[in-house]
Amino acid sequence: MNDDKIIIFDTTLRDGEQSPGASMNTEEKIQIALQLEKLGVDVIEAGFAAASSGDFNAIELISKEVDKIRVCSLARSVEKDIKSAAMAISKAKNQRIHTFIATSPIHMEYKLKLKPDEVIKKAVNAVTYAKTFVDDIEFSCEDASRSEISFMKEIVGAVIQAGATTINLPDTVGYRLPDELADMIKQMSDFIGKRAIVSVHNHNDLGLGVANTLACLKAGARQVECTINGLGERAGNAALEEIVMNIKTRKDIFEPFYTDIITKEIYTTSRLVASITGIEPQPNKAIVGKNAFSHESGIHQDGVLKHAQTYEIMSPKDIGIEDDNSIVLGKHSGRHAFKDKLLNLGYDLNDEELNRAFSKFKDLADKKKDIFDDDLRALVANEITKIPKSYEIIALSSNSCNKAHASASITIKHNDEIISESALGNGAVDAIFKVIDRISNIDGVLKDYQVDAVSQGKDALAKVVVKVEFDGKKAVIGHGLDVDTMMATAKAYIGALNSYLIMK
Ligand code: KIV
Ligand code: ZN
Repeated sequence: MNDDKIIIFDTTLRDGEQSPGASMNTEEKIQIALQLEKLGVDVIEAGFAAASSGDFNAIELISKEVDKIRVCSLARSVEKDIKSAAMAISKAKNQRIHTFIATSPIHMEYKLKLKPDEVIKKAVNAVTYAKTFVDDIEFSCEDASRSEISFMKEIVGAVIQAGATTINLPDTVGYRLPDELADMIKQMSDFIGKRAIVSVHNHNDLGLGVANTLACLKAGARQVECTINGLGERAGNAALEEIVMNIKTRKDIFEPFYTDIITKEIYTTSRLVASITGIEPQPNKAIVGKNAFSHESGIHQDGVLKHAQTYEIMSPKDIGIEDDNSIVLGKHSGRHAFKDKLLNLGYDLNDEELNRAFSKFKDLADKKKDIFDDDLRALVANEITKIPKSYEIIALSSNSCNKAHASASITIKHNDEIISESALGNGAVDAIFKVIDRISNIDGVLKDYQVDAVSQGKDALAKVVVKVEFDGKKAVIGHGLDVDTMMATAKAYIGALNSYLIMK
């Protein structure tokens, strides 16, 4: 193993999915996994196999679909979890089991109700058992940053002896400052030496996830765990794109360290994750926020025009954003130009996906004069998903009036049957949801509704994301994209309904 290479371990599909409201269906997880592979991620934590049959299936399918990327499942230090993880990843070319147990006094006493020596025994048994399935075993001391160093040395020494190949030392609650964490990693790295790779996994509760991660590199960490857009439990995890662009941009500080991330895939990956989870990065988010490369003040604009580096420390092109989102295609653009443009944006679609996307593009070009990069990104992310469409909208008409009830009439295809219905509502959105509920005979409770313009202009595409609870079950997400906001709304609601039916 090259000592200067930083292993990128992405946990968007596991810790990222623990972001409130970020649950993804299996198809969506596969799409993200394939994109992470394109991005050049080394290890992907595809889920927590024992958590649910949905998680297990997603890990199993991802294992079959991806090529070289190492696929990992999380498992508590119990046999049932480890077996489930081993089964779920068994089809992957490169496999890893990631087992963990808490090592801090507060977690051992109150959560686990175990004595330290019992914790060590469980950890060793877990690693020994995991080793009967695969060679590559990661062991995490949960809440490492609040654990006693002497105890961590004891447990880490024992699990390495049992076969652990990576030792992960998380700042589970995002509590430590960079110097403190670096000090802990230095002590543990000196202790571990060449016997295992030292990994860090930092949460962002005090906004220090990335800073802490970078500080740990200098102290001996060679694997970093992170998520796209910084998704994750509570305030999230350290953001992959920020860690990678720090290492690339500040070569003067970080050399000889490097990652194998293809940075031109960062923006596409970020857009895909945002569109699937419905969680948009804040506009001023570093690297991938809407404003990350836009210069508002006259002085800055003037400077950038004279010499980009006056106000730009990195180029938007480095993360895959082409020149200022210029107009790219219109209604006369052909299939070839369309395919070329998508390749340029990082989408290498197969023939079937390309046909679908091209037909959606032509529909869009009939309604919208100028089509921008962001329109194409949204269209591809939204339209190539392979979720079977149990319900499909054929036509929609909605009316609203400030003096009367709004109404919606819709025609829907369901199992080769064409159904038309109408409903009244308190506003057009309400009427649309009501008429769809009436047709499906399933009651949906709207938990969240977001509408956003994808690009510029009055005819910009509307992107709607809804979160809906059907039959009182866990909320599912649906997306809709259309030049007409009401149509986008109906598509999003139908999308959520289709996802719910698959999950069911
Ligand atoms: O934050 C944490 O400690 C974790 C572990 C399970 C690795 O997510
Ligand atoms: Zn975590």
